[in-house]
Amino acid sequence: MSNRTIPPVLIVVFGASGDLTKRKLVPALFSLYRQGLLPDHYGVLGYARTDSSDDQFRAELREALEEFSNVAPGEAEWREFARHFHYQQGNYDARADFERLAERIKEVDAAHHTESNHLFYLSTPPSVFKPITTLLHEVGLGQENGNGWTRLIVEKPFGRDLASAVDLNQHLRRNFKEDQIYRIDHYLGKETVQNILVFRFGNGIFEPIWNRNYVDHVQITVAESLGVGDRGGYYERAGAIRDMIQNHVMQLVALTAMEPPVAYDAKAVRDQKVNVMRSIRPLEPDEISDRVVRAQYSAGQTGGKSIPGYRETEGVDPHSLTETYVAWRLQIDNWRWKDVPFYVRTGKAMAAKLTEINVVFRQPPLMFFKDFDNDYHIPHNVITLRIQPDESIHLGFDAKRPGPIIDVNPVMMSFSYAETFGKKSAEAYERLLLDALLGDGTLFIRGDEVEVAWDRVNSVLDGWEAEAKANPNLNLPAYRAGSWGPDAADNLLEAEGRYWRNPYHLVKHQ
Ligand code: BG6
Repeated sequence: MSNRTIPPVLIVVFGASGDLTKRKLVPALFSLYRQGLLPDHYGVLGYARTDSSDDQFRAELREALEEFSNVAPGEAEWREFARHFHYQQGNYDARADFERLAERIKEVDAAHHTESNHLFYLSTPPSVFKPITTLLHEVGLGQENGNGWTRLIVEKPFGRDLASAVDLNQHLRRNFKEDQIYRIDHYLGKETVQNILVFRFGNGIFEPIWNRNYVDHVQITVAESLGVGDRGGYYERAGAIRDMIQNHVMQLVALTAMEPPVAYDAKAVRDQKVNVMRSIRPLEPDEISDRVVRAQYSAGQTGGKSIPGYRETEGVDPHSLTETYVAWRLQIDNWRWKDVPFYVRTGKAMAAKLTEINVVFRQPPLMFFKDFDNDYHIPHNVITLRIQPDESIHLGFDAKRPGPIIDVNPVMMSFSYAETFGKKSAEAYERLLLDALLGDGTLFIRGDEVEVAWDRVNSVLDGWEAEAKANPNLNLPAYRAGSWGPDAADNLLEAEGRYWRNPYHLVKHQ
Protein backbone atom coordinates (compact mmCIF):
# COMPACT_ATOMS: atom_id res chain seq x y z
CA MET A 1 0.00 0.00 0.00
CA SER A 2 2.87 2.40 0.71
CA ASN A 3 3.70 2.74 -2.99
CA ARG A 4 0.32 4.25 -3.76
CA THR A 5 0.97 7.75 -5.08
CA ILE A 6 -1.52 10.59 -5.02
CA PRO A 7 -1.71 12.55 -8.28
CA PRO A 8 -1.68 16.38 -8.31
CA VAL A 9 -4.97 17.63 -6.92
CA LEU A 10 -7.02 20.53 -5.62
CA ILE A 11 -9.15 19.76 -2.57
CA VAL A 12 -12.09 22.12 -2.13
CA VAL A 13 -13.54 21.98 1.38
CA PHE A 14 -17.09 23.28 1.82
CA GLY A 15 -17.66 24.20 5.46
CA ALA A 16 -14.03 25.19 5.84
CA SER A 17 -14.62 27.29 8.94
CA GLY A 18 -16.31 24.40 10.76
CA ASP A 19 -15.24 22.04 13.46
CA LEU A 20 -14.61 18.97 11.32
CA THR A 21 -12.15 20.84 9.09
CA LYS A 22 -10.15 21.94 12.10
CA ARG A 23 -10.36 18.84 14.23
CA LYS A 24 -10.01 16.14 11.59
CA LEU A 25 -9.39 17.18 7.99
CA VAL A 26 -6.48 19.54 8.33
CA PRO A 27 -4.68 17.40 10.95
CA ALA A 28 -5.17 14.41 8.61
CA LEU A 29 -3.76 16.35 5.65
CA PHE A 30 -0.86 17.54 7.75
CA SER A 31 -0.08 14.00 8.81
CA LEU A 32 -0.19 12.80 5.20
CA TYR A 33 2.12 15.68 4.28
CA ARG A 34 4.60 14.81 7.07
CA GLN A 35 4.69 11.21 5.89
CA GLY A 36 5.51 12.40 2.38
CA LEU A 37 2.23 11.04 1.03
CA LEU A 38 0.92 14.28 -0.48
CA PRO A 39 2.13 15.02 -4.00
CA ASP A 40 4.40 17.99 -4.78
CA HIS A 41 1.52 19.67 -6.57
CA TYR A 42 -1.60 20.14 -4.50
CA GLY A 43 -3.80 22.94 -3.28
CA VAL A 44 -6.54 23.20 -0.68
CA LEU A 45 -9.28 25.77 -1.14
CA GLY A 46 -11.51 26.38 1.87
CA TYR A 47 -15.01 27.66 1.14
CA ALA A 48 -17.50 28.92 3.71
CA ARG A 49 -19.88 31.77 4.43
CA THR A 50 -17.60 33.41 6.97
CA ASP A 51 -15.60 36.34 5.69
CA SER A 52 -11.91 35.53 5.78
CA SER A 53 -8.72 35.70 3.73
CA ASP A 54 -6.00 33.23 2.78
CA ASP A 55 -3.79 34.54 5.58
CA GLN A 56 -6.50 34.52 8.20
CA PHE A 57 -7.56 31.00 7.17
CA ARG A 58 -3.98 29.78 7.42
CA ALA A 59 -3.58 31.35 10.86
CA GLU A 60 -6.72 29.56 12.10
CA LEU A 61 -5.51 26.27 10.70
CA ARG A 62 -2.21 26.69 12.45
CA GLU A 63 -4.01 27.14 15.75
CA ALA A 64 -6.14 24.10 14.97
CA LEU A 65 -3.04 22.02 14.28
CA GLU A 66 -1.46 23.11 17.57
CA GLU A 67 -4.60 21.91 19.30
CA PHE A 68 -5.63 18.80 17.38
CA SER A 69 -2.62 17.39 15.58
CA ASN A 70 -0.45 14.72 17.21
CA VAL A 71 2.61 16.73 16.22
CA ALA A 72 2.74 20.53 16.17
CA PRO A 73 4.32 21.89 12.97
CA GLY A 74 7.82 23.38 13.01
CA GLU A 75 8.24 26.85 11.48
CA ALA A 76 9.69 25.89 8.08
CA GLU A 77 7.44 22.90 7.80
CA TRP A 78 4.41 25.07 8.52
CA ARG A 79 5.37 27.65 5.88
CA GLU A 80 5.73 24.96 3.24
CA PHE A 81 2.43 23.28 4.18
CA ALA A 82 0.46 26.52 4.58
CA ARG A 83 1.32 27.99 1.20
CA HIS A 84 -0.96 25.39 -0.40
CA PHE A 85 -4.03 26.69 1.47
CA HIS A 86 -6.44 29.30 0.16
CA TYR A 87 -9.83 30.63 1.14
CA GLN A 88 -12.91 31.72 -0.74
CA GLN A 89 -15.95 33.26 0.93
CA GLY A 90 -19.40 32.51 -0.47
CA ASN A 91 -22.91 31.26 0.14
CA TYR A 92 -23.90 27.68 -0.48
CA ASP A 93 -26.94 28.52 -2.58
CA ALA A 94 -25.89 31.50 -4.71
CA ARG A 95 -25.03 30.80 -8.31
CA ALA A 96 -22.95 33.97 -8.64
CA ASP A 97 -20.79 32.81 -5.73
CA PHE A 98 -20.23 29.45 -7.41
CA GLU A 99 -19.29 31.17 -10.64
CA ARG A 100 -16.71 33.09 -8.66
CA LEU A 101 -15.63 29.82 -7.07
CA ALA A 102 -15.14 28.28 -10.52
CA GLU A 103 -12.89 31.20 -11.48
CA ARG A 104 -10.92 30.92 -8.25
CA ILE A 105 -10.50 27.19 -8.77
CA LYS A 106 -8.90 27.91 -12.16
CA GLU A 107 -6.43 30.29 -10.51
CA VAL A 108 -5.53 27.89 -7.72
CA ASP A 109 -5.27 25.03 -10.22
CA ALA A 110 -2.79 27.04 -12.22
CA ALA A 111 -0.82 28.18 -9.17
CA HIS A 112 -0.37 24.62 -7.89
CA HIS A 113 -0.29 22.68 -11.17
CA THR A 114 -3.13 20.44 -10.06
CA GLU A 115 -3.85 19.07 -13.56
CA SER A 116 -7.52 19.96 -12.86
CA ASN A 117 -8.07 16.99 -10.55
CA HIS A 118 -10.68 18.07 -8.03
CA LEU A 119 -11.85 16.57 -4.77
CA PHE A 120 -14.89 18.39 -3.33
CA TYR A 121 -15.44 17.74 0.36
CA LEU A 122 -18.89 18.42 1.83
CA SER A 123 -18.03 19.14 5.43
CA THR A 124 -21.19 21.18 5.94
CA PRO A 125 -24.53 20.55 7.62
CA PRO A 126 -26.58 18.17 5.44
CA SER A 127 -29.17 20.89 4.74
CA VAL A 128 -26.81 22.38 2.14
CA PHE A 129 -25.63 19.15 0.45
CA LYS A 130 -28.24 19.61 -2.26
CA PRO A 131 -27.71 23.27 -3.18
CA ILE A 132 -23.92 22.81 -3.21
CA THR A 133 -24.00 19.83 -5.53
CA THR A 134 -26.62 21.39 -7.81
CA LEU A 135 -24.53 24.52 -8.19
CA LEU A 136 -21.30 22.59 -8.69
CA HIS A 137 -23.00 20.83 -11.57
CA GLU A 138 -24.54 24.02 -12.96
CA VAL A 139 -21.25 25.88 -13.11
CA GLY A 140 -19.62 22.88 -14.78
CA LEU A 141 -17.56 21.66 -11.84
CA GLY A 142 -19.31 18.32 -11.30
CA GLN A 143 -18.68 16.68 -14.66
CA GLU A 144 -15.46 15.00 -15.68
CA ASN A 145 -14.76 16.42 -19.12
CA GLY A 146 -11.51 14.72 -19.93
CA ASN A 147 -9.52 17.37 -18.07
CA GLY A 148 -8.67 15.60 -14.85
CA TRP A 149 -11.00 13.78 -12.46
CA THR A 150 -13.71 15.07 -10.11
CA ARG A 151 -14.74 13.39 -6.86
CA LEU A 152 -17.14 14.28 -4.08
CA ILE A 153 -16.82 13.29 -0.42
CA VAL A 154 -20.09 13.42 1.50
CA GLU A 155 -20.02 13.54 5.29
CA LYS A 156 -22.66 12.01 7.50
CA PRO A 157 -25.52 12.11 8.24
CA PHE A 158 -26.64 10.70 4.91
CA GLY A 159 -30.38 11.27 5.23
CA ARG A 160 -32.45 10.98 8.40
CA ASP A 161 -34.61 8.11 7.19
CA LEU A 162 -35.01 5.90 4.14
CA ALA A 163 -37.01 8.42 2.10
CA SER A 164 -34.55 11.27 2.61
CA ALA A 165 -31.57 8.99 1.90
CA VAL A 166 -33.15 7.79 -1.35
CA ASP A 167 -33.94 11.38 -2.26
CA LEU A 168 -30.36 12.50 -1.56
CA ASN A 169 -28.95 9.59 -3.56
CA GLN A 170 -31.16 10.47 -6.52
CA HIS A 171 -30.16 14.08 -6.27
CA LEU A 172 -26.44 13.32 -6.11
CA ARG A 173 -26.66 10.92 -9.03
CA ARG A 174 -28.29 13.60 -11.17
CA ASN A 175 -25.17 15.68 -10.69
CA PHE A 176 -22.40 13.10 -10.23
CA LYS A 177 -21.84 9.49 -11.23
CA GLU A 178 -21.96 6.91 -8.41
CA ASP A 179 -18.26 6.19 -8.74
CA GLN A 180 -17.46 9.87 -8.19
CA ILE A 181 -19.28 9.83 -4.84
CA TYR A 182 -17.44 8.89 -1.63
CA ARG A 183 -19.82 8.61 1.35
CA ILE A 184 -17.93 8.68 4.63
CA ASP A 185 -18.36 6.37 7.57
CA HIS A 186 -15.31 7.09 9.67
CA TYR A 187 -15.48 3.64 11.31
CA LEU A 188 -14.25 2.16 8.04
CA GLY A 189 -11.11 4.27 8.34
CA LYS A 190 -10.19 2.62 11.65
CA GLU A 191 -7.34 0.12 11.33
CA THR A 192 -9.07 -2.42 13.51
CA VAL A 193 -12.22 -2.28 11.44
CA GLN A 194 -10.25 -2.92 8.26
CA ASN A 195 -8.56 -5.78 10.06
CA ILE A 196 -11.88 -7.61 10.43
CA LEU A 197 -11.61 -8.67 6.80
CA VAL A 198 -7.90 -9.50 7.07
CA PHE A 199 -8.59 -11.59 10.18
CA ARG A 200 -11.46 -13.45 8.54
CA PHE A 201 -10.22 -13.86 4.98
CA GLY A 202 -6.45 -13.58 5.31
CA ASN A 203 -6.37 -16.69 7.55
CA GLY A 204 -7.49 -20.21 6.87
CA ILE A 205 -8.40 -21.21 10.40
CA PHE A 206 -11.25 -18.93 11.38
CA GLU A 207 -13.57 -18.97 8.40
CA PRO A 208 -14.45 -22.69 8.57
CA ILE A 209 -15.97 -22.17 12.03
CA TRP A 210 -17.44 -18.69 11.35
CA ASN A 211 -20.99 -19.87 10.80
CA ARG A 212 -24.16 -21.31 12.33
CA ASN A 213 -22.59 -24.75 12.86
CA TYR A 214 -20.16 -23.40 15.44
CA VAL A 215 -21.26 -19.92 16.45
CA ASP A 216 -23.91 -19.56 19.14
CA HIS A 217 -24.38 -15.81 18.75
CA VAL A 218 -22.52 -12.59 18.01
CA GLN A 219 -22.44 -9.48 20.19
CA ILE A 220 -21.42 -6.05 18.97
CA THR A 221 -20.99 -3.28 21.50
CA VAL A 222 -20.28 0.34 20.59
CA ALA A 223 -20.33 2.05 23.97
CA GLU A 224 -19.33 5.62 24.69
CA SER A 225 -18.59 6.95 28.15
CA LEU A 226 -19.34 10.58 27.33
CA GLY A 227 -22.86 11.96 27.41
CA VAL A 228 -24.14 14.20 24.63
CA GLY A 229 -22.38 17.19 26.23
CA ASP A 230 -23.09 20.39 24.33
CA ARG A 231 -24.48 18.55 21.27
CA GLY A 232 -27.95 18.24 22.84
CA GLY A 233 -29.62 20.23 20.05
CA TYR A 234 -28.17 18.02 17.30
CA TYR A 235 -28.71 14.82 19.22
CA GLU A 236 -32.38 15.49 19.90
CA ARG A 237 -33.07 15.09 16.18
CA ALA A 238 -30.81 12.08 15.80
CA GLY A 239 -30.82 9.58 18.67
CA ALA A 240 -28.67 6.49 18.94
CA ILE A 241 -30.30 4.55 16.12
CA ARG A 242 -29.68 7.28 13.53
CA ASP A 243 -26.39 8.50 14.98
CA MET A 244 -24.70 5.12 15.42
CA ILE A 245 -26.73 2.06 14.40
CA GLN A 246 -27.68 2.99 10.83
CA ASN A 247 -24.07 3.66 9.94
CA HIS A 248 -21.26 2.46 12.22
CA VAL A 249 -22.98 -0.52 13.82
CA MET A 250 -24.49 -1.74 10.53
CA GLN A 251 -21.02 -1.56 8.99
CA LEU A 252 -19.57 -3.67 11.79
CA VAL A 253 -22.38 -6.20 11.35
CA ALA A 254 -21.77 -6.30 7.60
CA LEU A 255 -18.02 -6.85 7.91
CA THR A 256 -18.48 -9.52 10.58
CA ALA A 257 -21.21 -11.38 8.74
CA MET A 258 -20.50 -10.94 5.01
CA GLU A 259 -19.44 -13.70 2.65
CA PRO A 260 -15.90 -13.65 1.25
CA PRO A 261 -15.64 -11.18 -1.63
CA VAL A 262 -14.18 -12.42 -4.92
CA ALA A 263 -11.42 -9.79 -4.61
CA TYR A 264 -10.42 -7.00 -2.28
CA ASP A 265 -11.79 -4.15 -4.34
CA ALA A 266 -14.57 -1.60 -4.05
CA LYS A 267 -17.16 -3.49 -6.06
CA ALA A 268 -16.58 -6.96 -4.67
CA VAL A 269 -16.43 -5.89 -1.01
CA ARG A 270 -19.44 -3.62 -1.23
CA ASP A 271 -21.49 -6.19 -3.15
CA GLN A 272 -21.03 -8.62 -0.28
CA LYS A 273 -21.82 -6.03 2.37
CA VAL A 274 -25.05 -5.15 0.59
CA ASN A 275 -25.96 -8.83 0.27
CA VAL A 276 -25.63 -9.50 3.96
CA MET A 277 -27.45 -6.33 4.95
CA ARG A 278 -30.30 -7.38 2.71
CA SER A 279 -30.42 -10.65 4.64
CA ILE A 280 -31.15 -8.80 7.89
CA ARG A 281 -34.75 -9.60 8.57
CA PRO A 282 -36.88 -6.41 8.63
CA LEU A 283 -38.95 -6.21 11.80
CA GLU A 284 -42.72 -6.42 11.77
CA PRO A 285 -44.37 -3.70 13.90
CA ASP A 286 -45.42 -6.20 16.58
CA GLU A 287 -41.87 -7.58 16.92
CA ILE A 288 -40.16 -4.30 17.69
CA SER A 289 -40.73 -4.15 21.43
CA ASP A 290 -39.42 -7.72 21.85
CA ARG A 291 -36.34 -7.23 19.70
CA VAL A 292 -35.27 -3.65 20.25
CA VAL A 293 -34.62 -1.90 23.54
CA ARG A 294 -34.27 1.87 23.71
CA ALA A 295 -33.49 3.96 26.76
CA GLN A 296 -32.21 7.30 27.99
CA TYR A 297 -29.47 7.94 30.52
CA SER A 298 -30.28 9.51 33.84
CA ALA A 299 -27.83 11.52 35.94
CA GLY A 300 -24.73 9.67 37.09
CA GLN A 301 -20.97 9.50 36.87
CA THR A 302 -18.95 8.70 33.79
CA GLY A 303 -15.24 9.10 33.21
CA GLY A 304 -14.90 10.23 36.84
CA LYS A 305 -17.28 13.17 36.29
CA SER A 306 -20.89 13.75 37.29
CA ILE A 307 -23.14 14.40 34.36
CA PRO A 308 -26.79 15.47 34.25
CA GLY A 309 -29.42 13.14 32.90
CA TYR A 310 -30.14 13.40 29.17
CA ARG A 311 -33.42 15.23 29.71
CA GLU A 312 -31.69 17.81 31.90
CA THR A 313 -29.10 18.58 29.23
CA GLU A 314 -29.05 21.96 27.48
CA GLY A 315 -30.87 21.84 24.14
CA VAL A 316 -32.87 18.75 25.13
CA ASP A 317 -36.64 18.70 25.57
CA PRO A 318 -37.45 17.77 29.21
CA HIS A 319 -40.03 15.34 27.81
CA SER A 320 -37.74 14.07 25.08
CA LEU A 321 -38.29 10.61 23.60
CA THR A 322 -34.91 10.56 21.89
CA GLU A 323 -33.05 7.38 22.74
CA THR A 324 -29.44 7.59 23.90
CA TYR A 325 -29.17 3.79 24.01
CA VAL A 326 -30.30 1.02 21.68
CA ALA A 327 -29.92 -2.74 21.89
CA TRP A 328 -31.23 -4.77 18.98
CA ARG A 329 -31.48 -8.50 18.38
CA LEU A 330 -30.86 -8.83 14.66
CA GLN A 331 -31.56 -11.91 12.65
CA ILE A 332 -29.67 -12.62 9.47
CA ASP A 333 -31.64 -14.90 7.22
CA ASN A 334 -29.03 -16.56 5.09
CA TRP A 335 -27.32 -19.95 4.91
CA ARG A 336 -24.43 -18.93 7.11
CA TRP A 337 -26.28 -17.24 9.95
CA LYS A 338 -29.82 -18.59 10.10
CA ASP A 339 -30.86 -18.78 13.80
CA VAL A 340 -27.65 -17.15 15.05
CA PRO A 341 -28.71 -13.90 16.74
CA PHE A 342 -26.58 -10.79 16.35
CA TYR A 343 -27.09 -8.67 19.46
CA VAL A 344 -25.93 -5.12 18.89
CA ARG A 345 -25.95 -2.24 21.33
CA THR A 346 -24.75 1.32 21.47
CA GLY A 347 -25.17 4.08 24.01
CA LYS A 348 -23.92 7.37 25.33
CA ALA A 349 -22.86 7.82 28.97
CA MET A 350 -22.06 4.15 29.47
CA ALA A 351 -19.53 2.56 31.82
CA ALA A 352 -16.68 2.73 29.33
CA LYS A 353 -15.70 3.76 25.84
CA LEU A 354 -15.55 0.43 24.12
CA THR A 355 -16.15 -0.97 20.67
CA GLU A 356 -15.99 -4.72 20.56
CA ILE A 357 -17.19 -7.62 18.44
CA ASN A 358 -17.61 -10.89 20.30
CA VAL A 359 -18.17 -14.06 18.33
CA VAL A 360 -19.40 -16.53 20.93
CA PHE A 361 -19.00 -20.20 20.05
CA ARG A 362 -21.21 -23.06 21.09
CA GLN A 363 -20.46 -25.13 24.18
CA PRO A 364 -18.94 -28.60 23.73
CA PRO A 365 -21.61 -31.26 23.21
CA LEU A 366 -20.83 -32.90 26.57
CA MET A 367 -19.88 -30.70 29.49
CA PHE A 368 -17.62 -33.12 31.43
CA PHE A 369 -16.14 -30.38 33.50
CA LYS A 370 -19.20 -28.47 34.40
CA ASP A 371 -18.94 -29.42 38.08
CA PHE A 372 -15.46 -27.92 38.17
CA ASP A 373 -16.32 -24.68 36.47
CA ASN A 374 -18.08 -22.02 38.52
CA ASP A 375 -19.67 -20.25 35.59
CA TYR A 376 -19.86 -23.04 33.05
CA HIS A 377 -23.17 -21.62 31.79
CA ILE A 378 -21.24 -18.71 30.28
CA PRO A 379 -19.48 -19.89 27.12
CA HIS A 380 -15.77 -19.19 27.18
CA ASN A 381 -14.90 -19.91 23.59
CA VAL A 382 -15.14 -16.39 22.31
CA ILE A 383 -13.22 -14.46 19.69
CA THR A 384 -13.13 -10.83 20.72
CA LEU A 385 -12.19 -8.20 18.18
CA ARG A 386 -11.52 -5.12 20.29
CA ILE A 387 -11.91 -2.23 17.87
CA GLN A 388 -11.14 0.47 20.46
CA PRO A 389 -9.53 1.30 22.88
CA ASP A 390 -6.57 -1.12 23.51
CA GLU A 391 -6.92 -2.40 19.93
CA SER A 392 -6.54 -6.16 20.21
CA ILE A 393 -7.88 -9.63 19.45
CA HIS A 394 -8.52 -12.28 22.09
CA LEU A 395 -9.41 -15.93 21.97
CA GLY A 396 -11.02 -17.22 25.14
CA PHE A 397 -10.99 -20.86 26.20
CA ASP A 398 -11.00 -23.01 29.32
CA ALA A 399 -7.84 -24.39 30.88
CA LYS A 400 -7.03 -26.53 33.88
CA ARG A 401 -5.54 -24.56 36.74
CA PRO A 402 -2.32 -26.35 37.89
CA GLY A 403 -2.91 -28.44 40.99
CA PRO A 404 -4.02 -31.85 42.24
CA ILE A 405 -7.71 -31.30 41.48
CA ILE A 406 -9.59 -30.39 38.31
CA ASP A 407 -10.21 -26.69 38.48
CA VAL A 408 -11.37 -25.22 35.18
CA ASN A 409 -10.68 -21.56 34.47
CA PRO A 410 -11.30 -19.30 31.52
CA VAL A 411 -8.05 -18.00 29.98
CA MET A 412 -7.17 -15.87 26.95
CA MET A 413 -4.77 -15.88 24.06
CA SER A 414 -4.27 -12.27 23.11
CA PHE A 415 -2.78 -10.13 20.39
CA SER A 416 -2.32 -6.42 21.03
CA TYR A 417 -1.70 -3.98 18.18
CA ALA A 418 0.39 -1.69 20.38
CA GLU A 419 2.61 -4.49 21.71
CA THR A 420 3.12 -6.13 18.34
CA PHE A 421 3.34 -3.19 15.98
CA GLY A 422 4.41 -0.50 18.42
CA LYS A 423 3.16 2.45 16.45
CA LYS A 424 -0.09 4.25 17.02
CA SER A 425 -2.77 3.57 14.42
CA ALA A 426 -3.35 6.32 11.87
CA GLU A 427 -6.43 8.48 12.34
CA ALA A 428 -9.44 7.26 10.38
CA TYR A 429 -9.64 10.46 8.33
CA GLU A 430 -6.08 10.11 7.17
CA ARG A 431 -6.76 6.78 5.57
CA LEU A 432 -10.08 7.87 4.10
CA LEU A 433 -8.70 11.05 2.56
CA LEU A 434 -5.80 9.10 1.13
CA ASP A 435 -8.14 6.55 -0.45
CA ALA A 436 -10.47 9.18 -1.91
CA LEU A 437 -7.45 10.97 -3.39
CA LEU A 438 -6.34 7.68 -4.91
CA GLY A 439 -9.80 6.88 -6.23
CA ASP A 440 -10.27 3.79 -4.08
CA GLY A 441 -13.88 3.53 -2.89
CA THR A 442 -13.55 0.27 -0.93
CA LEU A 443 -13.79 2.00 2.45
CA PHE A 444 -16.67 4.27 1.46
CA ILE A 445 -20.38 3.55 1.51
CA ARG A 446 -22.12 2.88 -1.77
CA GLY A 447 -25.58 4.34 -2.41
CA ASP A 448 -27.39 0.99 -2.24
CA GLU A 449 -25.64 0.18 1.06
CA VAL A 450 -26.95 3.35 2.70
CA GLU A 451 -30.45 2.59 1.51
CA VAL A 452 -30.60 -0.98 2.74
CA ALA A 453 -29.23 0.06 6.15
CA TRP A 454 -31.86 2.80 6.38
CA ASP A 455 -34.55 0.39 5.29
CA ARG A 456 -33.90 -1.91 8.26
CA VAL A 457 -33.58 1.00 10.69
CA ASN A 458 -36.69 2.62 9.30
CA SER A 459 -38.86 -0.33 10.29
CA VAL A 460 -37.88 0.40 13.90
CA LEU A 461 -38.29 4.17 13.58
CA ASP A 462 -41.79 3.71 12.15
CA GLY A 463 -42.73 1.41 15.01
CA TRP A 464 -41.48 3.88 17.60
CA GLU A 465 -43.36 6.70 15.95
CA ALA A 466 -46.58 4.71 16.00
CA GLU A 467 -45.98 3.84 19.66
CA ALA A 468 -45.52 7.52 20.58
CA LYS A 469 -48.72 8.44 18.76
CA ALA A 470 -50.70 5.69 20.45
CA ASN A 471 -49.37 6.55 23.87
CA PRO A 472 -48.97 10.28 24.59
CA ASN A 473 -47.61 9.49 28.07
CA LEU A 474 -44.84 7.30 26.73
CA ASN A 475 -41.57 7.43 28.63
CA LEU A 476 -38.35 5.66 27.80
CA PRO A 477 -36.71 3.42 30.36
CA ALA A 478 -33.71 5.02 32.06
CA TYR A 479 -30.21 3.72 32.71
CA ARG A 480 -27.84 5.41 35.09
CA ALA A 481 -25.02 7.33 33.40
CA GLY A 482 -21.90 5.23 33.96
CA SER A 483 -23.70 1.88 33.84
CA TRP A 484 -23.80 -0.76 31.10
CA GLY A 485 -27.31 0.19 30.02
CA PRO A 486 -30.88 -0.59 31.02
CA ASP A 487 -32.08 -3.83 32.60
CA ALA A 488 -34.30 -4.43 29.60
CA ALA A 489 -31.18 -4.88 27.45
CA ASP A 490 -29.85 -7.51 29.88
CA ASN A 491 -33.22 -9.23 29.74
CA LEU A 492 -33.08 -9.30 25.95
CA LEU A 493 -30.22 -11.79 26.21
CA GLU A 494 -31.01 -13.44 29.53
CA ALA A 495 -34.43 -14.49 28.25
CA GLU A 496 -32.47 -16.65 25.79
CA GLY A 497 -29.90 -17.88 28.34
CA ARG A 498 -27.21 -15.46 27.16
CA TYR A 499 -25.29 -12.55 28.73
CA TRP A 500 -23.68 -9.37 27.53
CA ARG A 501 -19.94 -9.54 27.83
CA ASN A 502 -19.05 -6.43 29.80
CA PRO A 503 -15.33 -6.13 30.28
CA TYR A 504 -15.31 -5.26 33.96
CA HIS A 505 -11.64 -4.32 34.06
CA LEU A 506 -12.45 -1.30 31.88
CA VAL A 507 -14.87 0.07 34.46
CA LYS A 508 -12.07 0.46 36.96
CA HIS A 509 -10.38 3.04 34.73
CA GLN A 510 -13.38 5.35 34.77
C1 BG6 B 1 -20.13 9.92 15.31
C2 BG6 B 1 -21.35 10.25 16.12
O1 BG6 B 1 -20.48 9.49 14.03
O2 BG6 B 1 -19.39 8.90 15.97
C3 BG6 B 1 -20.97 10.67 17.53
O3 BG6 B 1 -22.08 11.30 15.49
C4 BG6 B 1 -20.08 9.62 18.16
O4 BG6 B 1 -22.13 10.90 18.33
C5 BG6 B 1 -18.92 9.26 17.25
O5 BG6 B 1 -19.60 10.14 19.39
C6 BG6 B 1 -18.13 8.07 17.80
O6 BG6 B 1 -16.96 7.91 17.07
P1 BG6 B 1 -15.67 7.24 17.72
O7 BG6 B 1 -14.68 7.18 16.59
O8 BG6 B 1 -15.24 8.13 18.84
O9 BG6 B 1 -16.08 5.91 18.22
